[in-house]
Amino acid sequence: MTNTMLQPSFQQSRTIEHLVQGVPTSDGAGVKLTRILTGQALQKRLDPFLMLDAFGSDKPEDYIAGFPNHPHRGFETITYMLAGRMRHRDNAGHEGLLESGGVQWMTAGRGVIHSEIPEQEDGVMEGFQLWLNLPAQNKMAEPWYRDFANAEIPTYVNPDNAKVHVIAGSSNGVTGAITRAVTEPLYLDIHLPAGSTFSTAVPEGHNAFIYVYRGAVNVEGVEVASQRMGIFHNTAEADGVTVTAGMEPARLILVAGKPLNEPIVQYGPFVMNTQQQIRQALEDFHAGRF
Ligand code: CO
Repeated sequence: MTNTMLQPSFQQSRTIEHLVQGVPTSDGAGVKLTRILTGQALQKRLDPFLMLDAFGSDKPEDYIAGFPNHPHRGFETITYMLAGRMRHRDNAGHEGLLESGGVQWMTAGRGVIHSEIPEQEDGVMEGFQLWLNLPAQNKMAEPWYRDFANAEIPTYVNPDNAKVHVIAGSSNGVTGAITRAVTEPLYLDIHLPAGSTFSTAVPEGHNAFIYVYRGAVNVEGVEVASQRMGIFHNTAEADGVTVTAGMEPARLILVAGKPLNEPIVQYGPFVMNTQQQIRQALEDFHAGRF
């Protein structure tokens, strides 16, 4: 953990454009989750991000079946486990155990078939899965995978005692576990004591949102309640974000990235640029070419 006295340097804090409430659904073999980012309009608005799911339950029947073998092509999946244990296996020979506070970053590229199965029979399982698009030129790249244990994720405390886990990108001089060219993702988990404030630069032109999972925060006069996504305006010269916790401690993730501005064609777990590429993905998958 680093104590940083760096003051955020940016000109103008972003304001909230609108709030989104997730939709309860289930996926895999019946895992209950809340789908927060979904659908063409939000995918376009939050380019390069394609999906955000939140899962959280202390009832084993909500998560125990996990996600048996399924394919992906054309993007990256980032799983952040707040609490719980989940075993990943894929057809590229990777295997890993994702535990509380850890992150799994998988680049599906031209194709991965994997399973994500809970390795617990009771207790709380809570976390997020975020899908990050790949640029057209990298959609057929070699698959890549890495697990980061909680201790491998850089963390700092700001002057207001907010604790920040830097999963990707960099914030207030601290570089995260992962940096990526092209989409330049920023992914922070921010723990705010009651009444405290957190600020960070977010590059002008990048799309950005927060999702509050404990307490509530205030952003330039707009309250973002628990289990709400707040999408930030992406206006010229707005190059930073400031959030303040309410009367209770708050926790939230902040996600930002550089838009690709390329066509998005999704068919379930395949995200490509054209219908023809989707047909090819299905053909390759059914012919065992993943
Ligand atoms: Co998957």
